[in-house]
Amino acid sequence: MDHEGALTPRQEDIERILLSKADIASIVCRMGEELTKDYRDSNPLFIAILRGAVVFFADIIRAVQCPLQIDFMAVSSYGSAAKSSGVVRILKDLNTPIEGRDIVIVEDILDTGITLNYLIKNLESRGPRSIEIAAFLVKDVPGQRSAVLPRYVGAHVPDAFVVGYGLDYDERYRNLPYLGVLKPEVYS
Ligand code: PRP
Repeated sequence: MDHEGALTPRQEDIERILLSKADIASIVCRMGEELTKDYRDSNPLFIAILRGAVVFFADIIRAVQCPLQIDFMAVSSYGSAAKSSGVVRILKDLNTPIEGRDIVIVEDILDTGITLNYLIKNLESRGPRSIEIAAFLVKDVPGQRSAVLPRYVGAHVPDAFVVGYGLDYDERYRNLPYLGVLKPEVYS
């Protein structure tokens, strides 16, 4: 049963749809092929950064056609002021040792890159063989250069408040099956 286009109580808060369910499926398929090619023989560890990445994570691991393992990390969100200071705190660490492993960090969105810059340094100290980033979205902010560069990118989005497909505003909208721009009156 396909509910795409069905009106939900939250749809009235969305200004426009940036990526439809079909767009997302096509992006996931393309990224899955890239990852399958690159990690065919290495049994990589895919790490989801909670919470926003879980929806993309569930899709991308099923689009990769080679053996892999999964684990999860959660980091603190200190708000914009603390983010600019680069302070990130690990709330939930990996269950898996990563020494000698190929690591793919899976994120929903890369903005300043501060979160991932910290995480990569932290994970590098544990001696993995490699670390790459698969980011569903990269936010293009005029004048901003991300602190890290993901090897695998789903799509670039403008500097707008995007929600859905895991991304929230005030913990809402994560379960929207598409990516949309939130109406400014919802958060202003
Ligand atoms: C978002 C996103 C990244 C981070 C990106 O998480 O999932 O982890 O922000 O921002 P940055 O590139 O500027 O560091 P958020 O703190 O909103 O938490 P959530 O995943 O639980 O929604």
